Amino acid sequence: MGHEPIRSLELRGITKRFPGILACDHIDLSIGEHSVRALVGENGAGKTTLMNILMGLYQPDEGQILINGEEIRFRSPNDAFDHGIGMVHQHFMLVQNMTVVENVALGMKSSHRPFRLDEAAVRKRILEVSEKHELPVNPDALVWQLSVGEQQRVELVKTLCLGARFLILDEPTSALTPQETDELIELLEKMSGELSIVFISHKLHEVKALSDTVSILRRGRIVFEGRTENHSPAELAALMTGHEVELPRVDSTVVDRSDARGLLSIRELRVRGDRGNLALDGVTLDIAAGEIVGLAGVSGNGQRELAEALNGLRKPESGSITLDGVEMAGSTARRIIDEGMGYIPEDRNTEGIVPSFSVRENLVLKDVGEKAWSSGGFLRLRQIAKNATDLRDRFDIRCPSTDTAAGSLSGGNIQKVILARELARGPKALVSVYPTRGLDMGAEEFIHKQLLARRSEGVAILLISEELEEIMNLSDRIAVIYKGKILRIVPGKSATKRSLGLLMAGVSDE
Ligand SMILES: Nc1ncnc2c1ncn2[C@@H]1O[C@H](COP(=O)(O)OP(=O)(O)O)[C@@H](O)[C@H]1O
Ligand SMILES: [Mg+2]
Repeated sequence: MGHEPIRSLELRGITKRFPGILACDHIDLSIGEHSVRALVGENGAGKTTLMNILMGLYQPDEGQILINGEEIRFRSPNDAFDHGIGMVHQHFMLVQNMTVVENVALGMKSSHRPFRLDEAAVRKRILEVSEKHELPVNPDALVWQLSVGEQQRVELVKTLCLGARFLILDEPTSALTPQETDELIELLEKMSGELSIVFISHKLHEVKALSDTVSILRRGRIVFEGRTENHSPAELAALMTGHEVELPRVDSTVVDRSDARGLLSIRELRVRGDRGNLALDGVTLDIAAGEIVGLAGVSGNGQRELAEALNGLRKPESGSITLDGVEMAGSTARRIIDEGMGYIPEDRNTEGIVPSFSVRENLVLKDVGEKAWSSGGFLRLRQIAKNATDLRDRFDIRCPSTDTAAGSLSGGNIQKVILARELARGPKALVSVYPTRGLDMGAEEFIHKQLLARRSEGVAILLISEELEEIMNLSDRIAVIYKGKILRIVPGKSATKRSLGLLMAGVSDE
């Protein structure tokens, strides 16, 4: 590696401006050896920017980086790698149509290592690292064939193969299932014996479980630093958001709706998945007006296919879907939208918005043909702009301007754009898929309040989630899906984490 090991790493007065935004505002941060530092903050607080500066991806406008007391300047991530600093980015940087070996070799090549690379050597290195850290990977698998959790493992192995002793993980759990998350936390705990870790997250129970010290960023500034064990999640949440956070709960007086046909009614729905398998195998579910039904389950048990079938994006093989009495199974997405279906899709960046379109365009995306937004073949730009500023204020969308490309916003703000658009259309029913995945607590609180408000206005809401807290807080009834079937439906009030967890794992005997 050619450099002595990092005993101390210090950021001093780091400042970074983007057009209209002070992303990092004179940040001081120092990190010692063999420790786990949690870096927490709401979306847009500046966490990723700060770490990208540390990695040499961005140059700071002001400030210094010191290693073992000496100032250094990284011109690229390769410089950081040479000092043993590696980062697993939130959006993985793997080449999808290459194998694991090829991806790792690519990383090693670009970091101009002194030794010659041959595939056998890379493979050997991968196996060493994967054995040492108990990170099983198949060197010959093509990346696109791997699940998100497996891809993350490959990223970790790749980073460790490059010799990282100082590991930065940017929201590593945001796309993982609960089981994968637990596994990762356990793994990082073990690794922290010999590596230094910076763990970016806004899930405070993870921060509590893993980190020794915590630094909280708010709007580009460090607002707090302390030992994790001395502070409760509620305290940390308040510091992170600047106000007390209390996630709302549904006040549910469960009436027996078992024989009533819901406003949104699904009967014996059978839908095939991408691989031709029966992803939904006879699903029957009713959601009444003014009811939230939570669909709990480990992702991959048919949730995606259900959401797609309900929104006309996947043709059911058989069965029926009615919205307010109108049959919709097999209808086009357009017609389903017109009948009053709202949709918050799983992948907000590719299915929820057009990233290159402005915020204001995205807010009328589904209705550009409507009289309100166009007349005589011309867009009514003033109305579209006014609509955008109204919704921006109502939904607290934080963007430099409504002209900004929606794709450049943070995840939480993109989600608010989608929510604003779907709710402003006054839907009868709403299918909401992992609506707060990867979002911070402030955004989560906001979205939960919105869902409950629509519930009291009589919208029938299907809430698909893996977060049991979320499901239990919001649902009148909870249905558990497992391998394409509804295993059981229970009143939200009587559900426990343990019972739901067992059902999600397919254990259904009392
Ligand atoms: N390349 C960029 N160009 C312009 N603005 C950016 C860029 N990267 C980040 N920002 C802005 O800087 C702020 C901090 O972003 P980021 O560091 O990604 O926050 P976090 O990781 O805490 O969610 C946000 O307002 C974001 O929109
Ligand atoms: Mg980030």
